[in-house]
Amino acid sequence: MKVSIILPSAVIIFMAVVVGAMVNKGAETLDLFGGERGAVSFPHHAHQTILGDCNTCHALFPQKLGSIQELIQAGELKKKQVMNGHCKKCHREMKKAGEKTGPTACSTCHHK
Ligand code: HEC
Ligand code: HEC
Ligand code: HEC
Repeated sequence: MKVSIILPSAVIIFMAVVVGAMVNKGAETLDLFGGERGAVSFPHHAHQTILGDCNTCHALFPQKLGSIQELIQAGELKKKQVMNGHCKKCHREMKKAGEKTGPTACSTCHHK
């Protein structure tokens, strides 16, 4: 490869890394409150990589730990609304379409 190609590519890769590192993606795996059914271990980064768009989920609740429970307490979200309307809904629809996706059975998400 010529220097004229390597140099600009290196600059682009460097910038992508810097911009990528500036976004707070949160923890790799989150432990979500799951009430009496037990906590839910949520692979956050895996979803970010696969889904790409943060707003798939964060249009409904902010990028902050505990925000789902805060909104439930404030009466702005119903209990299980995120679970049924987002997590399970997406998994079910993708499963129906024959795509690789996440679980729909209670005990695959919830664990005590
Ligand atoms: C499939 C759903 C989903 C997607 C897509 C998603 N998130 Fe999240 N995110 C969550 C959930 C669930 C929480 C935890 C909310 C809670 O604790 O109530 C969370 C919490 C967070 C937090 C706070 C947690 C921490 O560890 O600090 C940050 C920051 C965050 N998300 C950033 C992002 C960014 C940036 C993207 C896109 C690149 C993204 N999220 C995409 C579901 C998602
Ligand atoms: C894809 C993962 C997933 C599956 C499958 C799942 N859940 Fe959940 N569940 C969650 C998440 C995430 C929450 C917390 C957010 C919310 O309340 O919407 C939750 C919350 C709950 C809560 C707590 C509600 C509260 O606030 O007290 C109960 C109870 C519950 N689920 C029962 C079940 C039962 C029963 C099943 C099977 C029929 C099930 N879940 C299947 C992810 C899942
Ligand atoms: C818009 C679609 C979409 C939404 C919304 C979504 N998921 Fe998923 N989920 C996926 C896909 C796709 C995979 C498959 C990842 C893979 O293994 O390639 C997955 C995988 C999973 C897995 C299995 C990971 C593993 O290691 O096998 C869990 C657990 C899970 N999701 C929980 C959740 C929870 C909890 C929520 C809600 C907070 C949620 N998902 C929201 C698409 C979604």
